[in-house]
Amino acid sequence: MNILVAGGAGYIGSHTIVELLNSGHNVICVDNLSNSSKVAIDRVEEITNKKVLFYKTDLSDKNSLNDIFENNRIDACIMFAGLKAVGESTKKPLLYYMNNLTSFMNLVEVMISHNCYNIIFSSSATVYGLLAKSPISEDSYVGDLGKITNPYGKTKLIIEQMLFDIAKVNDKLKIVILRYFNPVGAHKSGLLGEDPRGIPNNLMPYIAKVAVGKMEKLHIYGNDYNTKDGTGVRDYIHVVDLAMGHVAALKIFETNKKSEDSGNGNVFVYNLGTGVGYSVLDVVNTYEKVNNIKINYVIDGRRDGDVDTLYCNPKKAREELNFKPQLGLDDMCRDSYNFQKNNPNGYN
Ligand code: NAD
Ligand code: WQD
Repeated sequence: MNILVAGGAGYIGSHTIVELLNSGHNVICVDNLSNSSKVAIDRVEEITNKKVLFYKTDLSDKNSLNDIFENNRIDACIMFAGLKAVGESTKKPLLYYMNNLTSFMNLVEVMISHNCYNIIFSSSATVYGLLAKSPISEDSYVGDLGKITNPYGKTKLIIEQMLFDIAKVNDKLKIVILRYFNPVGAHKSGLLGEDPRGIPNNLMPYIAKVAVGKMEKLHIYGNDYNTKDGTGVRDYIHVVDLAMGHVAALKIFETNKKSEDSGNGNVFVYNLGTGVGYSVLDVVNTYEKVNNIKINYVIDGRRDGDVDTLYCNPKKAREELNFKPQLGLDDMCRDSYNFQKNNPNGYN
């Protein structure tokens, strides 16, 4: 297939492009590089020995998007583009609504006007809200914006709901919504990985910075949760497994299968996680063990908006997409450190 990957220079997008190219697909990448570097795409080409057609374009620019569709035959789109920092979104809500919603609406409108009807959308476990009980299945209650504490998460739920509405009135559309749990790790080559700007918000990139001495110590947000060691439990999935999940999801576009997730049978929703929960201390201890290093940490108070435990029921993706993650916590921690060590300043 010819696949347009929006936001493909980013962390998950770049790893996904590698797996798409390795599976024989052609890739057109559109990214404004607001949170990424073109170097990631150069490295994708180095790893795969294949070419990516790259457009440095902002998805708010509908004319340029139109030109891209005029000049290329596109069979499917994968929509990764968006801003993703939960904390920042509470400080700059308008920026998040504007960027994430406008980008999505422009892409879908231009797609449909060029008779392209297949789209995969990057959603998040965040749509389940704070009260969901783990293991979380796809049909766990979703739909209450008030249960989502930050504008970033709300953009994900709003886009999901838009997709259901659009699908209802357009029988040709096929939509796959993938709800990621906690993507971590890096490509085993050490060439691709997560390169957050400024102070990392998420656990694994923060540990990686401590590991190479860029940060003094990790702050563990609370050890009084109702979990085995008191620290928060999450469902970490290796980014290469997550990338493979997108390749698996493309099969939906080649079948006549109907979904039971409503949207007239043409919206398919899947959790992408491992179904296994690890605590913050599990991650720290594993990082130390597999990399033979010490991670300094202190226990701090809880972070606003965190829950004690969050992991998915991965059964649906396993049964319907034949998707089963292959990599474990050891691989996630080893590959994260390998990338950070080889690229102490990220892609710069
Ligand atoms: P990322 O920031 O590394 O990648 C997103 C890419 O989109 C970046 O390259 C950025 O430059 C680009 N982009 C942003 N706005 C754009 C615009 N207006 N026009 C063109 N390009 C634009 O993030 P990621 O971790 O790779 O996440 C990819 C997607 O997955 C995001 O939608 C994110 O919300 C979602 N997601 C991520 C996680 C996670 O923990 N990383 C979890 C769940 C869902
Ligand atoms: C994991 C655990 C923290 C940092 C976020 C988004 C979610 C999704 C995935 C996009 C928690 C603890 C963290 C630190 C810590 N992204 N922690 N010290 O919050 O589960 O999910 O990323 O859709 O929407 O909210 O991930 O990596 O931030 O936290 O102790 O410096 O690590 O309290 O228990 P989270 P995380």
